[in-house]
Amino acid sequence: MLTIILKDTALVARLRAGLLDWYDRHGRKLKWREGSRDAYRVWLSEVMLQQTTVPHATPYYEKFLKSWPSVRDLAAAEDGTVMAEWAGLGYYARARKLLECARTVVRDYDGVFPASETELLKLPGFGPYTAAAVAAIAFGLPANVVDGNIERIMTRLYAIETPLPAGKALVREAAAQWVDEARAGDWPQALMDMANLICRPKSPACGECPLSLACTAKARGDQERFPVKLAKAPKPRRHGVAYVMLNGDRVIVERRPDKGLLGGMLGLPHADWRADPYGAPDPGWHLAGSYEHVFTHFALTQQVWVKAVSEAEAAVLLRDNNAWQWMPVGEKALPTVFAKALKLKDASAELDLFR
Ligand code: ADE
Repeated sequence: MLTIILKDTALVARLRAGLLDWYDRHGRKLKWREGSRDAYRVWLSEVMLQQTTVPHATPYYEKFLKSWPSVRDLAAAEDGTVMAEWAGLGYYARARKLLECARTVVRDYDGVFPASETELLKLPGFGPYTAAAVAAIAFGLPANVVDGNIERIMTRLYAIETPLPAGKALVREAAAQWVDEARAGDWPQALMDMANLICRPKSPACGECPLSLACTAKARGDQERFPVKLAKAPKPRRHGVAYVMLNGDRVIVERRPDKGLLGGMLGLPHADWRADPYGAPDPGWHLAGSYEHVFTHFALTQQVWVKAVSEAEAAVLLRDNNAWQWMPVGEKALPTVFAKALKLKDASAELDLFR
């Protein structure tokens, strides 16, 4: 139970109207807000925005819509093409679910997303957030949409001390009090914009906040303490070596197995990601340097070893490694963890002979 439930429903209604008014004047002009509130577009943008920030997601969103203007087009796409376009957005299981979902919508729903939060929740890749967001934004249903932005606003408004994630139930209860029946799709987006432009993690601009009158944290002056979060355990560190085998403007890449980390994506061949660091390069290899990459469950330090391979050597390598193939070095099809290796190779002064 919330300790501070806002009993003054008239006040809630007045502030809600004030925030929607603010949104009409100051809401961000975002690509997915242009044109129709088509469920396919809403879904696509929301899946991407769970991965990354608005500026990073926007070009991906535009590229996807151009390549696949409808859910039927996406459902008919080649897996590899979609994976390649997703490269750089991270967390590839989402891209695989994206395709699975598009195909389910076409097969089981005749290409039309169901206009119900419960039905949406049954689709591949849909969790409570995506189901609520699509229900509200695409279909105007009064769903309780809660993302990290809305968590920040609600934990401040109600000064919720229970650390997240345990405090999520309280946050949902708080957010439910504010859902706007008439403008169900605008309401969560108004909150998200307000969270970005006003109720920022650091230095919130409370003077401009349409909800400040009801904000407990603001009244106490400890806004920045919220949301309270459990201290995270540090991620385990692993070490690897990415092998960059070059022949002119081509590099050997491998198609990763469907299951597991970065499943189905292209990558560079690499040594085991293990707890012990690797030493100096084996004979014949040049060290371009090493870099960091943080995955959800571990942090990776990866060395980059480079060598030029002749046509004859490459023919043997490709014959012996089924999953290996050539890729033009300039092609942007690799996930970030491997794109960083190629970048390092380009930046390494030691490796002038490879440029
Ligand atoms: N973050 C996630 N979804 C969003 C949306 N629809 N508008 C703005 N920011 C978002």
